[in-house]
Amino acid sequence: MSGNIKLQICDSAAAVATAAATAFADLIRTRPDAVIGLATGSTPEATYTEMARMHKDEGLTMAGVTSFNLDEYWGLGGDHEQSYRYFMNDRLFRHVDIHPWNTHVLNGKARFPALECRSFEDRILAAGGVDLWLLGIGGNGHIAFNEPGSSVDSRTRLVSLTQETIDANSDGRFFSDPSEVPRCALSAGIGTIREARALILLATGAKKADAIAAAVEGPFSPDCPSSLLQDHPECTFIIDAAAASMLT
Ligand code: GLP
Repeated sequence: MSGNIKLQICDSAAAVATAAATAFADLIRTRPDAVIGLATGSTPEATYTEMARMHKDEGLTMAGVTSFNLDEYWGLGGDHEQSYRYFMNDRLFRHVDIHPWNTHVLNGKARFPALECRSFEDRILAAGGVDLWLLGIGGNGHIAFNEPGSSVDSRTRLVSLTQETIDANSDGRFFSDPSEVPRCALSAGIGTIREARALILLATGAKKADAIAAAVEGPFSPDCPSSLLQDHPECTFIIDAAAASMLT
């Protein structure tokens, strides 16, 4: 079953980044006050580099844009180098003209997590919903920090990370040791993500091939959270040939 998921298979990881950045730039040029959703992880880094280049060289302005990020490690403040707030400031926000007060990243040090999650959902609603949300995918098929078992209508909440996700994020790219990785995170729910008017999921490399095949061709099931995008009316997976290699 592939549902409605559209596939854009690119020759290289660089081409994935160009395609994704172009989709966001096209939206922002058409709708300067667009509401965009963003992701962290190593996969979208090149997309952000390309968006920063478009700002510098092509006059792409994000001055009217509002952004919402998928998730944040629980217990890390925005000044921690492995926090997703720090990542976003470092990889994208400081290179473009988006206003800091229009960038919404969940507060990993909020006193009351349920209130922080509720406020995040309220801010999305107040902004009029998300026009286009960028996603990555975990090796186990997770999106944001919605691990296998997350329900299709889950909302923004405090979640526990699986050992697989902890290990994947402590391979030296981010944390150097699993003991440093927070065990919990605040994450937009699958229901929250599915309400975005359009979705783009990025994947590069053979390590993501099984997860992509399960998401696109496997059953619509919480066992593979990304498969719960199959019935979204406007969802595109932009992936490289290696990530597409297990598709039939
Ligand atoms: C983390 C993030 C996800 C991301 C995943 C894959 O778990 N919470 O949003 O999709 O990592 O990251 P990478 O692109 O580094 O493989």
